[in-house]
Amino acid sequence: MSYARPKGTFDILPYAPKADDLWKTSPLWQHVTTLCKELAHLYGFSEVATPIFESTWLFTRAAGDDSDVSKEMYQFSDKGGRDLSLRPEGTAGVVRAFIENGLHQLGSSHKLFYLGPFFRYDRPQAGRYRQFHQFGAEAFGVSSPERDFEVIMMLYKLYTKLGLKDLNLLINCLGDESARAEYVTKLKNFLTPHLDQLGADSKRRLSANPLRILDTKDPKELALLEKAPSILECLSKESLTQFETLVSYLKEQGLPVTVTPRLVRGLDYYNETVFEVTAGAKGAQNALGGGGRYDHLMKKYGGPDLPAVGFAVGIERIILAMLDQKVRLPESRKPVAHIIVMEEKAKKAVSMNLESVRAEGIAADMVCVKKIQKGLTEANKRGASFALIIGSNEWEKGQFQLKSMKSGKLSEHPLTQMAQILKEQSKTYET
Ligand code: HAM
Repeated sequence: MSYARPKGTFDILPYAPKADDLWKTSPLWQHVTTLCKELAHLYGFSEVATPIFESTWLFTRAAGDDSDVSKEMYQFSDKGGRDLSLRPEGTAGVVRAFIENGLHQLGSSHKLFYLGPFFRYDRPQAGRYRQFHQFGAEAFGVSSPERDFEVIMMLYKLYTKLGLKDLNLLINCLGDESARAEYVTKLKNFLTPHLDQLGADSKRRLSANPLRILDTKDPKELALLEKAPSILECLSKESLTQFETLVSYLKEQGLPVTVTPRLVRGLDYYNETVFEVTAGAKGAQNALGGGGRYDHLMKKYGGPDLPAVGFAVGIERIILAMLDQKVRLPESRKPVAHIIVMEEKAKKAVSMNLESVRAEGIAADMVCVKKIQKGLTEANKRGASFALIIGSNEWEKGQFQLKSMKSGKLSEHPLTQMAQILKEQSKTYET
């Protein structure tokens, strides 16, 4: 019997066994997630971590029964008969944690971020997995164009700092409840005479959740919707002014904004601002991230009446887009020493030296091999900055050879000075 991971999941590995596996390598993941955390810090967001599973109702109440997210959940009963689900998204859990821990008692404005795995039972394909990873940010307590602007700027900065180009920021305003009610009536009136052009799903949604029809990928329905009324026509004066202010702020910062009245997003909790970012024409189907305002979710869960806005990005999609756009990938700037020992007697002395090297903050490893080439190949694979070579000749002289992996330059030094020499040499590697 052979073991295989579940469909739609993947392993993150230290290096890529095949060229296609590069997106699943941990240095790349670390690069992206480190930047997420740095940006969160820069914009004043603090980390939260919530359980990977929660009560099923928590998610369905937030996302809506008719949303794809609710339908795609990994739902199960535990041994105590509780109805639980693996989290399909982060917002619901963060709002639950906020209320349950009484964070609102600690001030009126809170900015939280999270990073971790999420689960959706969808048809796996490139950029769509059953276990995927999100970096998400949620800001509670302020409802203003300035707060929306700040959240969208942070999202956008993440992509640009990673070197992504050809970005599109799609943005829309869903207005308040009465604007949506007015729009739903207009949309129904528009679609009802064209029932024959709607698929079974959209026909059902026409009475269950008409806004969701705007999410369709069906080309025939999309062509019909071109002529549909726009939600922007139904906005209150206040919503429209706030939305126009936000769009003007974003344009002032040079963001590639496209007002997209058909953008509703796949979750029911949104009101007012919604947005999504895509990269290039090829990425149009697969959003790199998205979010919006959800001012009523906290109250719906029995918490305080606090407005909120947030976003989440898919880490897999970001990395795939970086590779697709051939973004220059970061080189490790930290020195790494790879010590190749070909003399049995040297093992103990090198083990002791290794501790002194590590005490200097230099990552170091020892491999015992018979042939130098094998050791050097491994040093390369590990991305080492230095290879240290100790064969029987060097051992007899009490020396080691130091090879700079960057320049190929060789030099010889006393074994007793290993840590000190590496410390001096590695200064040229650090920024
Ligand atoms: P979402 O649009 O459902 O929003 O997901 C956010 C991002 O997660 C997507 O744009 C995509 O990059 C990534 N993603 C979603 N599903 C998959 C999948 N199956 N495989 C790979 N990546 C995926 C939310 O989850 C909201 N909670 C965002 C939010 C936060 N709104 C307000 N606050």
